[in-house]
Amino acid sequence: MQIGIDRIHFATASQAFDLKDLAEARSVDPDKYTIGIGQDKMSMAGEDEDIVTLGANAALPIVEGHEGSIDALLFATESSVDQSKSAGVHVHELLGLNSRCRVVELKHACYSGTAALQMAVGMVARNPKQSVLVIASDIARYELESPGESTQGCGAVAMLVKANPSILAIEPDSGLHTQDVMDFWRPNYSDTAMVDGKYSAKVYLDSLKHAWLHFQEVSGMVISDIQHFCYHLPFTKMAEKAHARLLKVNKTDHPKIESLKATLQYNRIVGNSYTASLYIGFCSLLDNAKEDLANQRVGFFSYGSGCVAEFFSGLIQPGYKERLLTESHQNALSARRTIDYPEYLALYKTQHHSDGQDFESRPMTQGQFRFSGIKDHKRLYERNESSEG
Ligand code: CAA
Repeated sequence: MQIGIDRIHFATASQAFDLKDLAEARSVDPDKYTIGIGQDKMSMAGEDEDIVTLGANAALPIVEGHEGSIDALLFATESSVDQSKSAGVHVHELLGLNSRCRVVELKHACYSGTAALQMAVGMVARNPKQSVLVIASDIARYELESPGESTQGCGAVAMLVKANPSILAIEPDSGLHTQDVMDFWRPNYSDTAMVDGKYSAKVYLDSLKHAWLHFQEVSGMVISDIQHFCYHLPFTKMAEKAHARLLKVNKTDHPKIESLKATLQYNRIVGNSYTASLYIGFCSLLDNAKEDLANQRVGFFSYGSGCVAEFFSGLIQPGYKERLLTESHQNALSARRTIDYPEYLALYKTQHHSDGQDFESRPMTQGQFRFSGIKDHKRLYERNESSEG
């Protein structure tokens, strides 16, 4: 029996900030961001957008009409809004899912989306009648004027995991690498990530090598068995570095780095979305590949700082194209409102609520759900009446 991704859809914020404007504000050559880092824009969450609304917006088109048949919701994030309650329970309510549903939040940096996906596959293997909704949702935030600032962004991806999937059958072998390192982390008292940037890129690349070698050992596959590669994308240049390292480890120059192009298109204009970024890269491949991907194998490299890494593979299913939500992705990306530097600063400052005060958000989102504010320490969510959908 095959198990994997039956539907996939992503959502991002309704605002976008151009990295050329950030370069001007920071007196940096814009080529550093657009060429050196490989990013053109970052999505910027509005006052009424957070990981819950992004996650619910990502999931809505794939659960609409099937609300009663979701058996579990696994919510992966590293920008959690509560230390106790799962963000997934807010999403469960917004989507109107059946109360006979298992909901939990998972964490390990950018890796937990993959942990959730593999756990969902395990749950369906035990009971093939089950449908498991995986949501990975994050807002990537670094200190203003720090090197990480240009690699911010946000987004959420939702994946429905089922037996006999329509889009991707996930294969059973994984290569793993776990090591206790401090390359990137966020202590409870900080609302921005702490990062040793150059070291984090080195650990990412070393982890890729170890996870790949393990994957090869357990699967018996060689690099030429895989037609497409999707890498975790903190910024798109990282995928090029990763692919160059993989080719070097395998002493080959195929598939060429240019073959990654379709996987990078969306992330170039969304920015980092931590747990979601690998899978937004996969959506980018599905939506933007020129050729028919049916029956082709995709290799996925998931990396979570700290660190846990996994290399796994999947086979694209015949007929996958009819199940894609390409138009929804492209419309949402092009409908984003471009913000200027003062608005970027203002939104950055209102993103995090750490003072315990009541808060009422101004309407900004174009999505179907909004974070309306905080009252008596409780986060409040609602349908967005002004949305066109
Ligand atoms: N034109 C073209 N290229 C230019 C340029 C110009 N004018 N100026 C600089 N560059 C190039 C540099 O040569 C460099 O290229 P290489 O990496 O190929 O050498 C690139 O632009 C970046 O320049 P710097 O190395 O000087 O950049 P920096 O030190 O200011 O910041 C960064 C880069 C370390 C990635 C920083 O953005 C950062 O800390 N980001 C957050 C951490 C991160 O994303 N780490 C990735 C691995 S960890 C992970 O993947 C988990 C996660 O999601 C966070």
